[in-house]
Amino acid sequence: MEQADKAMPFTGTLNHVKPTIFTEMSALARETGSYNLSQGFPDFPVEPELLDRVNHYLRKGMNQYAPMAGTPQLRQAIVNFSEALYGASYDAEREITITAGGAQAISAAIATSIREGDEVLLFSPAYDCYIPMIELAGGTPITVKLAHPHYRVDWDQVKRVVNHRTRMIVINTPHNPSGSLWEEEDYRQLAEIVGNSNILLLGDDVYEHLVYPGRRHLSLRNFPELRKRSFVVGSLGKTLHVTGWKIGYCMAPENLMKEFQKVHQYQVFCVNHPMQRALADHLEALDFGSIGAMYQRKQRYFEQLLAHTPFKPLPVSGGYFQLAEYGHLSQEPDRAFAERLAREYQVATIPLSPFYRDPTDHKVLRFCFAKDDATLEAAVEQLKKVKATPD
Ligand SMILES: Cc1ncc(COP(=O)(O)O)c(C=O)c1O
Repeated sequence: MEQADKAMPFTGTLNHVKPTIFTEMSALARETGSYNLSQGFPDFPVEPELLDRVNHYLRKGMNQYAPMAGTPQLRQAIVNFSEALYGASYDAEREITITAGGAQAISAAIATSIREGDEVLLFSPAYDCYIPMIELAGGTPITVKLAHPHYRVDWDQVKRVVNHRTRMIVINTPHNPSGSLWEEEDYRQLAEIVGNSNILLLGDDVYEHLVYPGRRHLSLRNFPELRKRSFVVGSLGKTLHVTGWKIGYCMAPENLMKEFQKVHQYQVFCVNHPMQRALADHLEALDFGSIGAMYQRKQRYFEQLLAHTPFKPLPVSGGYFQLAEYGHLSQEPDRAFAERLAREYQVATIPLSPFYRDPTDHKVLRFCFAKDDATLEAAVEQLKKVKATPD
């Protein structure tokens, strides 16, 4: 008989994966009582009308399973804004699925498309969920680095690594963590590369409405030639400051979406019903420009505040993260520096090296500025105290 208290030997399929840097830094923020500018979620209130709408649908009895692809109202509302913003007409009946956040849409799109031996190209630094999802599907992630400090795509390098095994290219714009944006020329280069191939595209557009002065978010949805091979992912959690609701979407042409739904139905079947109903009403009345304007003001404000600290902010075009360099202050590795910043100065941030597969450390930290002004101000007061340390 085995002893009851002895754990059974077990190696999971992602045994090599450690808790994410976001979990780690949020735990450190709690432990040290730090201002938490690490994880990407807003700390300001949700619009009361949206909460009232959820309450309404909860009480109205919308408490059972939603349709597998999402409620028709929410699918239609997303299709409507996609048409208005990107000139892309998707069929609300056949070409969109409501998902458990952007993350599940990414996971389902990869599980739908990738088989053993397929290569998936992505750009690093990269949001952390792509690689484990590719590996779970049996694929091989191939990373191309975005060059610091502008974090733009080097198309010559892309051309060198794309080959007959490349099955998918993952695009994230506005980009987490750098805040860089793809331009029309990037999509032109991409179109040239995928031209006559069977390469699929996965567009992670979760920060689609957060774009800064004079810039415009261009999505795979803008380009009909690319759209036909694309899964495009969005997040209502990111857009409407309700990341905890985990509601997102995936859009794709009918033949791709049909296969996507075969995976989605067995991953989750459907997602939160009353919230979908509330979000549909809310989106119909929403001025998307006001969200961009609110974050733009915040980004500018935070950058101005940072100018009074010893950190060197890098340019941001979209998303809700501000990168800043600290290499002139310390040569500590970024993880160690971020940990010390939390322990000694009570500001939690995210070091950039975990967004890479190979050791890459440009001495850069990521700050999430989707926070109340008072939180940003208090954090910056702490950052002003940071002193250069001798090498
Ligand atoms: C680039 C990127 N993609 C996807 C997600 C996941 O979005 P959601 O919270 O809607 O699952 C995030 C969340 O931080 C993200 O930053």
